[in-house]
Amino acid sequence: MCGIVGYIGDKDVSSVLMSGLWKLEYRGYDSSGIAVIDDGDLKVRKSFGKLMQLQELLQREPVGGSLGIGHTRWATHGEPSDQNAHPQTDCNGKIAVVHNGIIENYYTLKEELIKRRHIFKSTTDTEVIAHLVEEEFRGDLKEAVLKAVEKLKGSFAIAVISEDQPDRIVAYRKGSPLIIGLGRNENLLASDIPAVIGHTKEVVILEDDEMAVLKKDGVEFYTKDGERIEKQVQEVPWKPDDMDKGGFPHYMLKEIYEQPEVIRRNISLRIRNKKIDLGENFNFTPDELARVNRIIIQACGTSWHAGYIGKYLLEDIARVHTEVDISSEFRYRNPVVNGETLVIAISQSGETADTLAGIREAKAKFLRVLSIVNVLGSTIARESDGVIYINAGPEIGVASTKAFTAQVFNVYMFTLYLARLKWTIQKEEMLKRLSELEGLPDAIERILKRDDVIRGIAERFKDKKHFLFLGRGINYPTALEGALKLKEISYIHATGYPAGELKHGPLALVDENMPVVAIATRSSVYEKMLNNLEEVKSRGGVVISVVTEGDERAKAVSDYTIEVPDVPEYLSPIVNAVPLQLLAYHIAALNGRDVDKPRNLAKSVTVE
Ligand code: AGP
Repeated sequence: MCGIVGYIGDKDVSSVLMSGLWKLEYRGYDSSGIAVIDDGDLKVRKSFGKLMQLQELLQREPVGGSLGIGHTRWATHGEPSDQNAHPQTDCNGKIAVVHNGIIENYYTLKEELIKRRHIFKSTTDTEVIAHLVEEEFRGDLKEAVLKAVEKLKGSFAIAVISEDQPDRIVAYRKGSPLIIGLGRNENLLASDIPAVIGHTKEVVILEDDEMAVLKKDGVEFYTKDGERIEKQVQEVPWKPDDMDKGGFPHYMLKEIYEQPEVIRRNISLRIRNKKIDLGENFNFTPDELARVNRIIIQACGTSWHAGYIGKYLLEDIARVHTEVDISSEFRYRNPVVNGETLVIAISQSGETADTLAGIREAKAKFLRVLSIVNVLGSTIARESDGVIYINAGPEIGVASTKAFTAQVFNVYMFTLYLARLKWTIQKEEMLKRLSELEGLPDAIERILKRDDVIRGIAERFKDKKHFLFLGRGINYPTALEGALKLKEISYIHATGYPAGELKHGPLALVDENMPVVAIATRSSVYEKMLNNLEEVKSRGGVVISVVTEGDERAKAVSDYTIEVPDVPEYLSPIVNAVPLQLLAYHIAALNGRDVDKPRNLAKSVTVE
C-alpha cells in the first residue's frame, strides 16, 4: 500500500527521499512523487508508473532544498495517473501533502470546499487535506494541520510542508503506520523502518492521534489537542545490509535462503534453560492461559495458513478447541465466544487492515488478544494484549516466505507452552520436543542444497496453466500455502486441496496438463496420501511429490520427487514449505515475472 517518507537536514533532499521510496517499493504502488521547498518555493515532481520514471523526471528537472516529502501511491480513490500521484497541493501550490490511508468523508468535504471556491486538480481523497490545511493556515503549520485533521474521518498517516514555514515537516498519524527517524542535525519520517535505517537506528513510533513536528535540529511530539508529549525512542536492531539483496537476484530468494538462520535465531530466543520463553511482550499470565477453553485464530493469506497449521497443533497437543478464520470473514461474522476465548491474530506486517479490524472486533466483545507478528511496534502488535514476535527480520518480497516458517515455529512454541499449563504433555515429552528443534535449521539447509533439482522441475513445468496442490493433516495448509505462493508470483492458476477430497470433485480436473504437487512425507496420514496419489496416477495425472529422503514407496507413485529430511510431523510444515517456495520462485523467475513485486499486490494491505 502507499508509502510516505520525509526528510529535513543537510543531505541532498531529493536523493534521500528517493532512496527512502526505493526502500518502500515493496509495499506496492502505481505512481510516485516528491515535494521539496527549494529556494523558498514549493516544487513538486511526480509521475505515474515505476519509481524509475520519477528518477528520470528528477534527472531532467532536478530539485534542491533541505526538506521534502515523498510518496509511493497505491490507488484507492482515483485512477493511477500523474495528476493523482502524491504529493497533492492546495489552490496556491504552497502546501503539499502526502497521505497513506483513506479519507472516508472526502466526498462531503470536497463538495463543501468546492462551494468555498477551492479548485481541485485530482480525483484523490488526499487533495481535500491540502485544501483544508490551506483554509486553516494562519502562519502556523502545526495548528493548521491539527484543525484540518479534526474534520477528517478514516485512517491516515500524513506529512505536510508549506513554503510559508519552510523549516519544518508536520506529520500526523491516525490508523496508518508512521515512524520518525532521529538523526544528528537531520530527521526523517516514513511508513516503515526500512526507509530510515540507512540514516539512523533511533526511531519513534507514532501512536494514533499523535503529531510530530520535524525540524533539522529536533522533533517535537504533540497530542491531537496540541499538548506537547515525550515519546520513547527505540533502537532498531537491524543492519543496513538487511535491506539488500545480498547477491541474490531477488529478495524472495534471499529470504527463502535466510530461513535456517531465522529458525536458529528463534530457537535461541524462545528456548532458555530448557524452558519456553515467549518474549518480553507476551504479557499473558499462566493462570489466565490455563483457563482458556477456546481459541480463534484470525489472519489473512499466508498468515492464515500458518494459523491453520496452528489449529492442528493446538488441538492435538494442547487439546484446546481452535477455530481458524480469515480476518475479512471473522470481522463480520459475529462468532459465538465466551469469557475464556482467546483470539490470536497472525500477521507479518502487523498492519493488515482486516486483521486489525478483527482485533478490534474481538476487543469489542471483551476478548483478550494475542498477536504473532514480525514488525516491531506495528499497529497490530500495539493493539493486542500480548505479542509474540517471530524475529524473521525485514521481509521485502511481497510473497511471504521466512515469515511463514517463523510464524509456524512460534505458533508451535505457544502450543507447547500452553500444553504444559494445561498438563496435556509431560515434562519429558516437552524436553524431547524442544531437543527435536535443534535439527530443524540443518534440515532446511539440506533442502536448499537441492535447489538445482527443484529448478529442473520448474523448467519442465513452467508453461503449465494450472496446478493442483495436495496435502493431508497438518500439511493440508502447507499445500494451500504452496498453491498461494505459485499463483501470486507466477500468475499461474493453482489450487490447494486436502487430498481426501479429490474424489469429491477435483479428480475430474486431473489429466496430463494439470500437474499435481503432493506433500507425501512420512506422517500419520502417509498411507492415505499414497492411496490418493495412486488415484491421480491411474487417471493419467503427473505427480510431483515432496517425499522423505530415501522413501522408495512414495517415489514409486510420483513422476518427480523432491526429497526432504525426516523431521517430526509437527515440524514438517516448516520443512515442506521450503521446496514449494523454491518451486514457485523458479517457475515465476523462469517466466520473467516481477517476483518481488507481483502485479496488483502489495506487501502491506492497509486498506480493506
Ligand atoms: C503472502 O505471500 C501474501 N502476499 C499475503 O497473502 C499476506 O500473507 C497477507 O496479505 C497477510 O499479510 P500479513 O501477514 O502482513 O498480515
